[in-house]
Amino acid sequence: MSKRIEVEDLNVYYSDFLAVEGVSIDIQPRTVTAFIGPSGCGKSTFLRTLNRMHEVIPGGHVKGRVLVDGDDLYGPGVDPVLVRRHVGMVFQRPNPFPTMSIRENVLAGAKLNNKRLSKSDGDALVEKSLQGANLWNEVKDRLDKPGGGLSGGQQQRLCIARAIAVSPDVLLMDEPCSALDPISTFAIEELISELKNDYTIVIVTHNMQQASRVSDKTAFFNIAGTGKPGKLIEYNDTSTIFTAPTVQATEDYVSGRFG
Ligand SMILES: Nc1ncnc2c1ncn2[C@@H]1O[C@H](COP(=O)(O)OP(=O)(O)OP(=O)(O)O)[C@@H](O)[C@H]1O
Ligand SMILES: [Mg+2]
Repeated sequence: MSKRIEVEDLNVYYSDFLAVEGVSIDIQPRTVTAFIGPSGCGKSTFLRTLNRMHEVIPGGHVKGRVLVDGDDLYGPGVDPVLVRRHVGMVFQRPNPFPTMSIRENVLAGAKLNNKRLSKSDGDALVEKSLQGANLWNEVKDRLDKPGGGLSGGQQQRLCIARAIAVSPDVLLMDEPCSALDPISTFAIEELISELKNDYTIVIVTHNMQQASRVSDKTAFFNIAGTGKPGKLIEYNDTSTIFTAPTVQATEDYVSGRFG
């Protein structure tokens, strides 16, 4: 199920260091939102606050609120492990469990949720998730072979299958194509467009063409200088950000005059 994300005046810290300051953003269900901006402006840091992965880093903490369909992720008594099951994440480098079979990789997260998954339910979930990740046809005859034996692009789709097998509400992707060739990148972009029907998707990308191809909304982050916090500068429809941004820095960035 796809959910809305509302962030209210979020500050993100590594111990004393304020890495991202004062972000407020409203992300609608069944949309793809792209985060763009120069290296070090805090895109990954901010993304990780949306499923409480940030605080896994020692000293990592936030001030402000992140609401998912109205529920504060940082509210008292909220279990971060549960949050991460509802808000899935796909990383820059495909990270399947290399020696685990393709089947076991897909089921890895789902088994944590439901240890008593039957063989037939497991088979159905593996097929559905691999279909959902556009990988089924390529691997259906070798489900018991190790995940590490797939190509990079296939491994990334396997990680997406693993993420969607737990039926999350939101999918966060941090530069999911940066380690992939153009054909695998295209496959992932097609997949993102399909997944949008079921999930709220946020993707960090350095690729402007990719942002304009896959996203409905774009958020431009920037940083005033080393040691300064990153900020959300402009957030709007992707077409507006790329053709008629309001802020000069956005214009400079999307037109490649900077960074
Ligand atoms: N584990 C960490 N501990 C301390 N500071 C960190 C840590 N990770 C990132 N930072 C700092 O936080 C700031 C934002 O980094 P972040 O990785 O979020 O940027 P980014 O926009 O994702 O950059 P890139 O485009 O290069 O991936 C940087 O100043 C970075 O040095
Ligand atoms: Mg990053």
